[in-house]
Amino acid sequence: MSATDRAAIAAGAQTGPEDNPLTEGLERLPVHPTALVIFGATGDLARRKLLPALYNLAHEGALPERFGLVGNARSEMTDDEFRAMAVESVREFSRRPPDEKVLEKVFTDVRYVPGSFDDDAVYAALGQELDELDEQRGLALNRCFYLSTAPTFFPIIVDALGRNDLAGREDSAVRVIIEKPFGRSLQEARELNARVLSVFDEEQVFRIDHYLGKETVQNVLALRFANNMFEPLWNRNYIDHVQITASEDLGIGSRAGYYDSAGALRDLVQNHMLQLLSLLCMEPPVAFEADPVRDEKVKVLRAISAPTPVDIPDMAVRGQYSDGIVAGRAVPGYLDEEGVPEDSTTETYAALRLEVHNWRWAGVPMYLRTGKRLARKVTEIAVTLKPVPHVAFQGPEMSTGVRPNVLVLTVQPNEGVSLSIGAKIPGTRMAIRTVNMEFLYGTAFLSQSPEAYERLIIDAMRGDATLFTRNDEVEAQWRIIDPIVKAWETSSAPLPQYPAGSQGPEEAERLLVGDNDRWRMI
Ligand code: BG6
Repeated sequence: MSATDRAAIAAGAQTGPEDNPLTEGLERLPVHPTALVIFGATGDLARRKLLPALYNLAHEGALPERFGLVGNARSEMTDDEFRAMAVESVREFSRRPPDEKVLEKVFTDVRYVPGSFDDDAVYAALGQELDELDEQRGLALNRCFYLSTAPTFFPIIVDALGRNDLAGREDSAVRVIIEKPFGRSLQEARELNARVLSVFDEEQVFRIDHYLGKETVQNVLALRFANNMFEPLWNRNYIDHVQITASEDLGIGSRAGYYDSAGALRDLVQNHMLQLLSLLCMEPPVAFEADPVRDEKVKVLRAISAPTPVDIPDMAVRGQYSDGIVAGRAVPGYLDEEGVPEDSTTETYAALRLEVHNWRWAGVPMYLRTGKRLARKVTEIAVTLKPVPHVAFQGPEMSTGVRPNVLVLTVQPNEGVSLSIGAKIPGTRMAIRTVNMEFLYGTAFLSQSPEAYERLIIDAMRGDATLFTRNDEVEAQWRIIDPIVKAWETSSAPLPQYPAGSQGPEEAERLLVGDNDRWRMI
């Protein structure tokens, strides 16, 4: 939190927790009065995620009392038309049906500045709107610039903010929130970091990986570091292997333009999946704060070697979906999707076997897989423990059920944690079967989890970068992925196919090294 934020809070910008014990843990964190500028405010992300997130924050009283929203995009539009679009987006995409009073209030005073991202006149107009907001709200608002545009515009907007004196000010904090993808390669990520950091300080930069905003992803840290029972087992002596799955049943929808030039590795593995792996493998941070947490995550990423061209066929498998059946409906193959070139070799599935070369994890296979048009949507981390050293229950009918324990952290859907344990089947024989001990978010907390973007927007406004990726972290992620992207782009080997609605390409089996390692059923 910045000194300015602290001063505003000390001056009583918000009140402390209530006396009611039932509200314990639900208090809102104070947020300094802020103006949020969204570049690309009429785009898909703004309409589906950002504007509904703002509404839901307002609904929960989490937005600062003195808040301002300014939209920018290329289409001509008045303030009123932008307001109507924002209201419409909330009605269509909000996780809860909107309350009319809240909806009217949150967007009452929104402003819209039309124009292209490289036009200095746009920034002059934005500056004017922001100054006016300061005047109306009676103090220098913090400013957050949210880059929700196509990635080619990130450096253009950042440069323009610098050139037009909007990247910093004396009397309040200025922050920039940058969407993914952060570059298309290590080289591009480095160049983009250099551009961004020539205008802003790292403390002002908030790089989004929306998985970090998910409650269940943060729960990986809660599970590991708020419980004493897992940590002693959390190492190569007890853990046999780890499997991280992020499968989707959907295809690419209307995103062919973006997806065909990205592919599954860049779209999901470089960011979300490596983040899940880092959280799972990191050492305990000294504090749950931006730098201590990110320092530990970077160490994990650096302990994963960048694969060489010789390693790649043995540790990475790609695939592309052909036509098939998903949820009982016939769907086309990738090459027949609208906008996809008919000879595209873009992968819609990627599976990797990685190893974290450090004292804690040496020798533990880390399996990662993701894909579009698989059997169902599920994101989970499954940690399989080593088998017990000796099975005392001898005889076929006794020991058949003795299986290694598996701890499954389900990120979505059915958010929760389940641990499989061997239990005695009731009766006169000593026969064992695996049963599950479960914790489900829905039943334990009886409340709907906020959307990732709600948490991330508020954290960026508070200046807390714990759930955002740092420059060295993004580059460390690219260092691992880049050689695989390059090898696949230049490979003449046939691209494995898998039918839509299936478990993915059979070739993924070859990544499994342990005698008993199996891909989990999707
Ligand atoms: C995005 C990817 O980052 O994450 C999409 O670009 C993917 O292709 C999405 O569908 C998955 O996010 P979630 O929150 O639905 O798991």
